[in-house]
Amino acid sequence: MSRIVYVNGHYRPYGEAAVHAEDRGFQFADAVYEVIEVRDGRLVDETRHMDRLARSLSAISVQPPMSRPALAHVLREVIRRNRVRHGTVYLQVSRGAAPRDFLFPTAGLQPTVVCLARASSQTVLDARAAEGISVVSIPDIRWGRCDIKTVMLLPACLAKTEARDSGAREAWLIDADGFVTEGASSNAWIVTGKGELVTRPASSAILSGVTRATLIDALAHERMQLAQRPFRLTEALAAKEAFITAASNIVMPVVRIDGAAIGDGRPGPVALRLRAVFHHIAERSSH
Ligand code: PDD
Repeated sequence: MSRIVYVNGHYRPYGEAAVHAEDRGFQFADAVYEVIEVRDGRLVDETRHMDRLARSLSAISVQPPMSRPALAHVLREVIRRNRVRHGTVYLQVSRGAAPRDFLFPTAGLQPTVVCLARASSQTVLDARAAEGISVVSIPDIRWGRCDIKTVMLLPACLAKTEARDSGAREAWLIDADGFVTEGASSNAWIVTGKGELVTRPASSAILSGVTRATLIDALAHERMQLAQRPFRLTEALAAKEAFITAASNIVMPVVRIDGAAIGDGRPGPVALRLRAVFHHIAERSSH
């Protein structure tokens, strides 16, 4: 079966789907995006993802390209046409195509909308979670508005490639004061030696993760306390547990940071419990 990509109102074969050479997303990273989990053919936490997309668009002064119901239809159609049961949907909205100019065009630009779906193996992800992943720490060289989900991802690409080259799956980004901001494409969490669950508060220094927000709801169900405060790399290295959250891997235990074992070097009970309960709490879309 061939893959289908949605581009500006058309469903095209993967190899033929294209945007304009002067698309501002391509020239200036003048675009925002969402990655949404697909589970059993349904979108996970669609409302929160669409709310965040609206916030990102508003932050860069791009009008929503279509109504929410229309966008919801595109997401479902891309999932359906690609027959994805488990995986992710990628949705990108750029300001549109115009002759290259730093200034935002004043009027008349149609945003470019691209939507793709990709299947992933639940078995592979679950096996990875059962083993846990390694992360490496890397200086956070990104800009001051990491709360906007833009496609300006070169720092994340560099960080993740460096992580891969040192045998790790994710990079934890460290700010100028030695605090962990977040993962290159995930939020970062630890369980301290005293059993305190900690994650950095939402601010312009991190992306306010949808998975993070839903996990905070799950904590209330589990009657677990959370401290939202910055934590240093040194505190993470001394932690009992560590994990990351993202739509692409939900709760993923971290068992090594910079080569040093976290806790006993195996996925911890808090991370595994939260991974197990997450989808009971998360919103599941209708078809
Ligand atoms: N990344 N922080 C960053 C920098 C991210 O890129 C992501 C997600 C997250 C987690 O957000 P959420 O829980 O809403 O997925 C945090 C996606 C998965 C990506 O770019 O592929």
